[in-house]
Amino acid sequence: MKKILVSNKVYYVGVNDRKKSLFENNWPLPNGVSYNSYVIADEKCALIDTLEFGSKDDYLEEIGEILQGRQLDYLIVNHMEPDHSSMIGWIQKMYPNVKIVANSKAFKMLQSYYGIGQDHIHEVKDGDTLDLGYHKLNFVMTPWVHWPETMITYDTTDSILFSCDAFGSFGTLDGGIFDDEINFGFYEDEMRRYYSNIVGKYSHMVQKAFAKLESFKINFICPSHGPVWRKDPQKAISLYDKWSKHESDEGVVIAFASMYGNTEKMADYLARLISEQGVKNIRIYDVSKTHVSFILNDIWKYKSVVLGSSAYNAGMHPMMQHLCNELEVLNPKDKNYALFGSFSWSGGGVKTLVPFSEKMSWKMVAPPVEIMGSPKIEEMSGFEEIAKNII
Ligand code: FEO
Repeated sequence: MKKILVSNKVYYVGVNDRKKSLFENNWPLPNGVSYNSYVIADEKCALIDTLEFGSKDDYLEEIGEILQGRQLDYLIVNHMEPDHSSMIGWIQKMYPNVKIVANSKAFKMLQSYYGIGQDHIHEVKDGDTLDLGYHKLNFVMTPWVHWPETMITYDTTDSILFSCDAFGSFGTLDGGIFDDEINFGFYEDEMRRYYSNIVGKYSHMVQKAFAKLESFKINFICPSHGPVWRKDPQKAISLYDKWSKHESDEGVVIAFASMYGNTEKMADYLARLISEQGVKNIRIYDVSKTHVSFILNDIWKYKSVVLGSSAYNAGMHPMMQHLCNELEVLNPKDKNYALFGSFSWSGGGVKTLVPFSEKMSWKMVAPPVEIMGSPKIEEMSGFEEIAKNII
């Protein structure tokens, strides 16, 4: 591979994963994902994070080409999730004297995952520094962005934030590595899907991390997934700030679960009424067809959400239950919402959606609409109030 220089003595050594179908064996990867890692070849040499095991040979070869026979002095572990840590053992084999730079919350994980004891670890605490020669590194503890041991490494010399999961994105880097080399329109959606599905639950901790980084000058953001930011790092910061504050765009997501098409008819009818109110961003999703990660992404993006479910065993449809479970865990806030459903005998969809929705910090805009059997227009008048108030 051609060497990719980020800044003076700092190299990108990431790989693209186009084989994996599901990130964390859960989240679809239709556009793949990149694992980014960085080498600082200074008077002392450091590797920042590794990658998920699978591209071992190319990765080790690239590091070797940059180091040109020199020793690797430090391996900085910002985060222990195996998509960034599972090459640690191989790095140790290649460079037996390497010191693992980590904070104390990572110690037990290093031991249990990779059998690494404290004699191999260089412990860092919040605000500690590490002098590589030209580059001086500063460590900032940012717990829960994404795991408890997560930290960010900041290079004070060239103002580089090695942010690991923060500012990361799904999607492989197809030639373009830097923000000025790509069409960001594609990555914005995948970056938000990564945020909403992986990091969003910890939005309040993202805000705490922002408070700590407020006074830092940032010329580069080098995340561990997705594009590297060198032209406009402020754009990535603004997006993360917006998403972690639960700020959203005008628009409505209507997610429905329908067994025989009656609940779907209601979704279409409501969407038309909302459109007549002048709303342009309306997305209808069949929860049995579209993976929950894409629906969550749009719910994070837009201000309003309408959930509709047929009755199923006197409760809501299982696929709607799955969406509700994820919503409860990931907890997008400050939404306008409404509910609807259909049933054949004694109801259940709306009856179980109501207690779910009361657990969310959302605002109901109009009473739920529930209809027996096939919906008739005269039975759907309740949708008019929803359509008027949902934005
Ligand atoms: Fe990309 Fe939390 O790992």
